[in-house]
Amino acid sequence: LSQKHVEILGTKYPVDEFTNVTPSIISKIPLRLHTKPSHPLDTLRGLIEGHFSDFSHVSSFSPVVSPFKNFDELSFPKDHPGRAVTDSYYVNKDMMLRTHTSAHEVEMFRKGEDKWLLTADVYRRDEIDGSHYPVFHQVEGARVFDATPSGMKEVMEDNARLEAQLSRTNIVIEDVPHISSTNPVQPGHDPVFSELVAKNLKLSLNGMIFKLFGGGASQAPLRVRWIEAYFPFTSPSFEVEVFYQGKWLEILGSGVVVQATLNTAGVQNKISWAFGLGLERIAMVLFSIPDIRLFWTEDERFHSQFQSGKITTFKPYSKYPACYKDVSFWLPTNSTLHENDFCDLVRDTAGDLVEDVKRLDHFVHPKTQKTSLCYRINYRSMDRSLSNEESNDIHGQVVSELKNRFDVEIR
Ligand code: PHE
Repeated sequence: LSQKHVEILGTKYPVDEFTNVTPSIISKIPLRLHTKPSHPLDTLRGLIEGHFSDFSHVSSFSPVVSPFKNFDELSFPKDHPGRAVTDSYYVNKDMMLRTHTSAHEVEMFRKGEDKWLLTADVYRRDEIDGSHYPVFHQVEGARVFDATPSGMKEVMEDNARLEAQLSRTNIVIEDVPHISSTNPVQPGHDPVFSELVAKNLKLSLNGMIFKLFGGGASQAPLRVRWIEAYFPFTSPSFEVEVFYQGKWLEILGSGVVVQATLNTAGVQNKISWAFGLGLERIAMVLFSIPDIRLFWTEDERFHSQFQSGKITTFKPYSKYPACYKDVSFWLPTNSTLHENDFCDLVRDTAGDLVEDVKRLDHFVHPKTQKTSLCYRINYRSMDRSLSNEESNDIHGQVVSELKNRFDVEIR
């Protein structure tokens, strides 16, 4: 970046050696697909909000947060890999693009609400293929209870109500213990309280999952499985998978909120559960959307197929021909080029015309110790047919950017 500032949502931030947000990423920030009327992501958000009908909901927070808020406040260790500049987008050393909606847990809990949902765009540096995109959307939800005998009575009553509701649905759940030696109760939590809250979490989410996935005409029960997980900001922690169209689909992370989070938010004598779920992956299967880039298209043949609040099956309007181009190069000695740096360069130059990027080869020359890399880039527009000239042209730009920015030697 040659300029001294980057501008995001009208604010200018000084750049420094941490800065790695790209123009292509910055251009996505104002789009807010999760609030775009009749967009599948907006519809899915609406369905989730509709299920948790007595929860408050927010979807307006800026994605620019401090690393403190994204990581430290949530008890991430100092050496957590997510903090690396190769994995996350930094505006500069003091500010980054949130990597998850959990970054707002403390400020949501601080409001003192007992039931809340938050939807937002989140950013992670990643590979390029049909199911990964560096911007995606999450819904975070939480429910807070009084950590007292009367609070627990409320949980038990709610659990009985939720269990009765679930017993009338065609769902089969594979469960794990609420607490185990590998998924422990937190120090300072009464294990009985923690179990009841974890059970409330599971029952609440099973109900939501059935609403989203259980609607089909199929006679077969919906299969859901709970798996032990680990997050720095919950314990016990769980992941959930749904068996849908012949595959197990991982849809969310969740758990009993680490007490330090509530303490930081000034919430006392309470116990809470929280979950975080990615919207794209779920929307892709529910709406039969085959490529994650389609969420970002402006093509009317995409948007005209969706109506607000309704799940409909997307009919691909056509698949234009793919055009594969390879690039092989020697890295300069001591180069730190990371695969995600390569992918960001490709996205920045070719945007959504890239369908995927694969590394074909990687070797170190035995004599010179130089590293050679070969990548295959698949160019394909979702909206039109690319001419060979055009893809050659774009590929040429990728190659010259690669030489300029990373000083590689093309083979
Ligand atoms: N923030 C986690 C993620 O992005 C999901 C999560 C949210 C897990 C809340 C537990 C509680 O993977």
